[in-house]
Amino acid sequence: MAATVATVAYLGLEARAVEVQVQLSSGLPAFIIVGLPDKAVAESRERVRAALASIGLALPPKRITVNLSPADLPKEGSHFDLPIALCLLAAIGATDAETLSHYVAVGELSLDGRVAPSPGVLLAAIHASAQDKGLICPVAQGSEASWAGELDVIAAPDLLALLAHLKGSALLPAPPVAEAEPPDGGPDLAQVKGQEVAKRALEICAAGGHNLLMSGPPGAGKSLLAACLPGILPPLQPSEALGIM
Ligand SMILES: Nc1ncnc2c1ncn2[C@@H]1O[C@H](COP(=O)(O)OP(=O)(O)OP(=O)(O)O)[C@@H](O)[C@H]1O
Ligand SMILES: [Mg+2]
Repeated sequence: MAATVATVAYLGLEARAVEVQVQLSSGLPAFIIVGLPDKAVAESRERVRAALASIGLALPPKRITVNLSPADLPKEGSHFDLPIALCLLAAIGATDAETLSHYVAVGELSLDGRVAPSPGVLLAAIHASAQDKGLICPVAQGSEASWAGELDVIAAPDLLALLAHLKGSALLPAPPVAEAEPPDGGPDLAQVKGQEVAKRALEICAAGGHNLLMSGPPGAGKSLLAACLPGILPPLQPSEALGIM
């Protein structure tokens, strides 16, 4: 039986699509990971084995081959634990492979089945959103993932809760949507004395997103007025905040 789950490999500031494939075949029991895994990915075997044992599932006594495709792309990091575990669970029929096909999964597994944070969730979320998929990520990074905009984020605290959510028996709460922090205390437009025309021009520009050219003698308050602009702009949408980061 073979199953697949989508995940990503990080290359600098880019997330590349990686497909985890699991095949169970007859033969001497073994658990092999191929597809240029680094040390952290190779050790994922032990974490996945322990995490599955913690939820009462033993690995089937078969030859388990995990392939990380494309096989020539180097895979680094511990975030492959969760997709490998989910793919194994799909292969043994413990979860629905069709449901999983709508998600990209990233996350490290603890030996007791908890889903621990791993770096790069935001990149994975942007990638998932571009592919019109949802994201399965660690609970601690749910709000980080929601920066990527409108995508279905499953922030999983542990393997058991995630399986229950995918089955529909106990839904996980949606992660809190992250809000851009307000700009740190620049001058307030109310502090500007007089200059009613300039203040009105500033307000119209802020409301309508127009350009503004200020011209006047030195000391007239041009820099002061410009510094007041962020304070009267509406809060940034997550995608806008990402764009100017
Ligand atoms: N209308 C005003 N109300 C309150 N403070 C003002 C006003 N106009 C100017 N100031 C103060 O005067 C000082 C000089 O203003 P600012 O630096 O904004 O001038 P500017 O027009 O940018 O000058 P420059 O052309 O030399 O850059 C600042 O400390 C500013 O706070
Ligand atoms: Mg100035």
